[in-house]
Amino acid sequence: MVSTVTKSRKVVVVGTGFVGSSYAFSLLNQGVANELVLIDLNREKAEGEARDLNHGMPFGSPMKIRAGDYDECSNADLVVITAGANQAPGETRLDLLSKNAKVFRIIVNAVMKSGFKGIFLVATNPVDILSHVTLEVSGLPKQRVIGSGTILDTARFRYLLSEHFEIDSRNVHAYIMGEHGDTELPVWSHVQIGGVPLSRYADIDDIENNKEMQEIFVNVRDAAYSIIESKGATYYGIALGLVRLTKAILHNENSIVTVSTLLDGEYGLKDVFLGVPAVVNEHGIRQVVELELNAKEQQQLEHSASVLKEMTEKALG
Ligand code: LAC
Repeated sequence: MVSTVTKSRKVVVVGTGFVGSSYAFSLLNQGVANELVLIDLNREKAEGEARDLNHGMPFGSPMKIRAGDYDECSNADLVVITAGANQAPGETRLDLLSKNAKVFRIIVNAVMKSGFKGIFLVATNPVDILSHVTLEVSGLPKQRVIGSGTILDTARFRYLLSEHFEIDSRNVHAYIMGEHGDTELPVWSHVQIGGVPLSRYADIDDIENNKEMQEIFVNVRDAAYSIIESKGATYYGIALGLVRLTKAILHNENSIVTVSTLLDGEYGLKDVFLGVPAVVNEHGIRQVVELELNAKEQQQLEHSASVLKEMTEKALG
């Protein structure tokens, strides 16, 4: 029997609430990893999620799934943090900062105590600031601390544009940058529908003032609020975005996705985590992609960065 050494694709997810369990389910469905450990303060919940997922194994791809503890992080390739409080109706993501920053210090210290040498993927909100907290507490190189950032906002933007132009969303290229939150911005100057720049259809200024385009952006920016009003939380979209990122990392894809990363001069910004297009592979963030923003977009990005910087300084103390 020839033994084939399969590449380790071990993921630990911390938090088995709506987002963590939806992520685990999507991971099984898409066959992205070969080992998944579920950690939760409520061990019974983690055990139950593992059992429920394992019973679906014959319908998915073979994968070892179990509940576990932080010692399992020692040889994990990826630790995904979804634990923490989520937005109550009407609450902003920034409102969650003080309670979730405390939770993160405990979690990240516990992961690092295991001897973890992999990549952190942060999903809990406010994701940009909690990614910065993770970097500070872990002491890992910045390439290996990634926030989900505006990956979901970008997906929402592409979806709503695809509905408007009646084109498959996979042929719509568009970015939302900045805070994953109220100060995010649409990069109209780089929207392409099937490779044709939106500016070919109309002047950018007209687009920015176009009622339907403006409506699309507002629906993107405020999507979470409306979904939370309707069903109490959001989880499928973010879970699928986390699986997309997991695949880019574990399969060494060198994919360009909008994630939250620590800027070090890109876009003229330093020492702040915020959503930008970046190349992601098995080492984490390979490089930030610097788009040529117009004056309005640059100003909006700088505003987003200043809001995040102020809140981050409070969180890091
Ligand atoms: C949302 C959460 C993930 O935007 O912040 O749905």
